[in-house]
Amino acid sequence: MTPLERTADVSVIGLGRVGLPLALSFADRGLRVVGIDNDPARLSALREGAMPFQEAGTQELLERVRRGGPAGLDGADAPGPDDADAPGLDGADGPVLDGADAPGPDDADAPGLDGADAPVLDGADAAVLDGADAPGLVVGGKPGPRGSGSGQLELSERVADAARARHIVITLGTPSFSHIEIDMRDIRSALDDLLGVLSPGHSLVLRSTVAPGTTEFVAGYLAKHRGFSIGEEVFVAHAPERIAAGRFLEEIDTLPCIIGGVGDRSGEVAAELFGVFGAPIVQTTPVQAELAKIWANILRYTHFALPNLLMMDCERHRANVFEVIDLINRDYPRGGIAQPGLTAGTCLRKDFAFSEERSNAPGMLLAVSRVNESVPLFLVEGMRRRIGSLANRKVAVLGLAFKADTDDERDSLAHKLVRLLERELADVAVHDPHVPTPTAPLEEALRGAAAVVVAANHSEFREPQTLSAIAALAAEDCLVVDPWNCWGAGQVFAYTAELAAPAVAGQDDRSRETKASGEQTSPPAKPPA
Ligand SMILES: NC(=O)c1ccc[n+]([C@@H]2O[C@H](COP(=O)([O-])OP(=O)(O)OC[C@H]3O[C@@H](n4cnc5c(N)ncnc54)[C@H](O)[C@@H]3O)[C@@H](O)[C@H]2O)c1
Repeated sequence: MTPLERTADVSVIGLGRVGLPLALSFADRGLRVVGIDNDPARLSALREGAMPFQEAGTQELLERVRRGGPAGLDGADAPGPDDADAPGLDGADGPVLDGADAPGPDDADAPGLDGADAPVLDGADAAVLDGADAPGLVVGGKPGPRGSGSGQLELSERVADAARARHIVITLGTPSFSHIEIDMRDIRSALDDLLGVLSPGHSLVLRSTVAPGTTEFVAGYLAKHRGFSIGEEVFVAHAPERIAAGRFLEEIDTLPCIIGGVGDRSGEVAAELFGVFGAPIVQTTPVQAELAKIWANILRYTHFALPNLLMMDCERHRANVFEVIDLINRDYPRGGIAQPGLTAGTCLRKDFAFSEERSNAPGMLLAVSRVNESVPLFLVEGMRRRIGSLANRKVAVLGLAFKADTDDERDSLAHKLVRLLERELADVAVHDPHVPTPTAPLEEALRGAAAVVVAANHSEFREPQTLSAIAALAAEDCLVVDPWNCWGAGQVFAYTAELAAPAVAGQDDRSRETKASGEQTSPPAKPPA
């Protein structure tokens, strides 16, 4: 089969919270990008110019990319998305959008997925299309200025269209099975769709978080089914996404980009692509890149499990967790414990399992997970101890997102908290100003509540007005449950009258400052012991 004509610089497979900001950022640096997702609703939203989720600055970026593409997608001085002749985001006429003229795995003349049907292109017979040899497709590796305006984002539902670019970046989800094992089904499915259309010169970069050994598995899969020499003909690397949700545009061109390439040249080729962001590039082996990513998340998951366990310990001993944390950290060079909170989210909740799969200390990280997962139950039991049965009593839950100031509800412990409260037969009212799930207005959620739980420490909730609204609208003796210490009162469980009291003795301005950053917080880095 003739390889697909390479009309783009980079394809991004999976336009989710990682892939979409990345695809837009490549386009913003002047690259021609093919963005691929199998969710038609997501593609429709993008074609209409709407970001399908919140990520700071990306709505403006999407609009800039729509305006800046070669076809001029703003509709003002150039054909726009509704224009019948305009290639680009409209999906109808763009070169890779309709799939009708693009051969893919379903095409009769496309090579099949087994090694027998697929022509094996060895390096000697096939011209290797590296950036230098392929006119018009050069990704120079030099940082492109933001908003360079010459980029383009084309959209497709077909994974095989990714082969129109030399660089293919996989940003698909990698959940974990409940069997303590990575669920690679989306990645396997994409690989199978790509097998028939890959050709020498292609570079495949895994941006998804993966279990140790996965990058070598992908390389082996391509070698097994297509006979490619990985690192010479076709390139495979892992370049893990390490940006925190909400900070993509802030961090993409500053965070060191770790790249672990298979064979001789894969790392170098992947660096040509990611070099456009201008961040330092750190070359390593594939497995070290995989371990660095998952262990950074294990570190955070464990770091926050300790204050959560301490919070439960303090309840048992009738101690105040915020005072104990202050005693640990105050002017002590070997302190450094973080603050309690609800710790989960789509990454922290599952990435530890990628180590636990083959652990030498089975159970250690499962115990960490159990601590974090038991915080909602701890809060419900604490409420029952103080105000008795929750049956038929109104409980307001503030926040459904997994962390502050995001609309991402995936794997949020707030949902678990709501389920547990419902199992107590409580009348649960939820308010969250960020998430797509419909929730009640704040006033409605609070009115007559016997208890209010702050499940996500959104900026809005940390305002004193929220506390005033609780005092005004909730029941007179309302119990406020605030593991985040949003208002500096320094009590996980407190009645509204107590919350008007001054902040906990010993809680200094510095610790309140870190609270205001909106995440589950840690004290400033401590000097070495
Ligand atoms: N979300 C984060 O903050 C974050 C941070 C660092 C790393 N990661 C990792 O990045 C990866 C992606 O995470 P995410 O949060 O962006 O996931 P996501 O679920 O938001 O995005 C995945 C996208 O892939 C699409 N998709 C699924 N199967 C497909 C297929 N066969 N073909 C085409 N599209 C398909 C889905 O429709 C979805 O839009 C995961 O490995 C995750 O662990 C995520």
